[in-house]
Amino acid sequence: MRSMLSGALMLLIVSISSGVVLKRYQYFEFNRNWSDAQSLCRKYSGDLATIYNQPDMNSLWLRWYIVWINLHRDSNTGQKWVWTDGTVYNGYNWAPNEPDPSEDCAVISAMNNKYYGLSCEGYAFSFCENYALDYYYFIPKSMTWSEAQQHCQNNYGNLAKFNNNNMGGIFPYQHFPVWIGLHRDGGSWSWSSGVSKYNSWDPAEPSSNGDCVSIGSLTKNMATQNCGAHFPFICMWENLLLVKENKSWEEALEFCRALTSTVNSNLRFDLLSVQPGDQQQYVMAKIMEANSDEVWTGLHFLAGEWLWVNGEDVLYRDLPVCPALQQHCGAISKSISDSLEARDCLERKNFLCYVF
Ligand SMILES: *[C@@H]1O[C@H](CO)[C@@H](O)[C@H](O)[C@H]1NC(C)=O
Ligand SMILES: *[C@@H]1O[C@H](CO)[C@@H](O)[C@H](O)[C@H]1NC(C)=O
Repeated sequence: MRSMLSGALMLLIVSISSGVVLKRYQYFEFNRNWSDAQSLCRKYSGDLATIYNQPDMNSLWLRWYIVWINLHRDSNTGQKWVWTDGTVYNGYNWAPNEPDPSEDCAVISAMNNKYYGLSCEGYAFSFCENYALDYYYFIPKSMTWSEAQQHCQNNYGNLAKFNNNNMGGIFPYQHFPVWIGLHRDGGSWSWSSGVSKYNSWDPAEPSSNGDCVSIGSLTKNMATQNCGAHFPFICMWENLLLVKENKSWEEALEFCRALTSTVNSNLRFDLLSVQPGDQQQYVMAKIMEANSDEVWTGLHFLAGEWLWVNGEDVLYRDLPVCPALQQHCGAISKSISDSLEARDCLERKNFLCYVF
């Protein structure tokens, strides 16, 4: 299972360098507690997801997860994988390179219906099965393998065996919690990174169940949870950086260009060169965090024309053709969406850098 996680994360790091404004969500079906999920996202220079608006929420597809199955490694019979009735497993359904020799219990992934090894002390959801009725019960609660087995035996029969190959049909329709970056910080709600007022609380929420927030995989409704619970999670990668310092346009440009990344020394920073409609809601949400009314962009008037500092064509149509001498730099205002204002380059404002 471990190799699957690092593979998915590496893929993302590589794909982060196309387009100017980037915000990308990635869902991980591995169960982690809230702070471990946050650390994992941050380790790869992302963060737990901030949801800015309804289209962000709609874009999330949360159908994969892992569930414990009845299969485990039997220490008594020469390390063979067995079902709980003692039958030795014939091994036909392992994912490639699975199971890892250090892992003694098995999960099935709803992504591909394959089996993966997992430490028995790890966490996953489970399917219980009533073998007599051939009926399955999804348990959207994170448990260790033995907790899950106990839970199934007490209530339904046993952990599911999935030996009749009919699972593809029920896997995508289960409802379970997924971590996002929202949590209670002191008395108020805040995101792991950034600022967003968006919410989609379940009618009975927020409650005092806990200080961390999940969304339902199907309803997308927010609910409070105990931060120590283990759920799948959503990371977010973004490449905009709002600098909440007031600088002249020239100082802002120098500031961005001098930035470096501690994670990847190949990354470069510049003052934001943005085009009309380019992730506009997201850019505006970032700007709303500024403590000046306007923020500098990488737009300036030079030798008779408006230019972006990154060399791209300026596609905004409403800029003055012949700006007054003191109005040679471009800012975005908090109050006017998707439009650029010509301003005096010596005014001091917050500014947006981006990573490429
Ligand atoms: C989350 O799990 C880590 C260990 O993986 C643990 O150190 C930490 O205390 C846990 N957080 C909570 C809130 O339970
Ligand atoms: C930046 O300027 C605004 C006024 O335009 C002011 O309210 C804000 O406190 C200043 N921010 C800093 C960090 O000095």
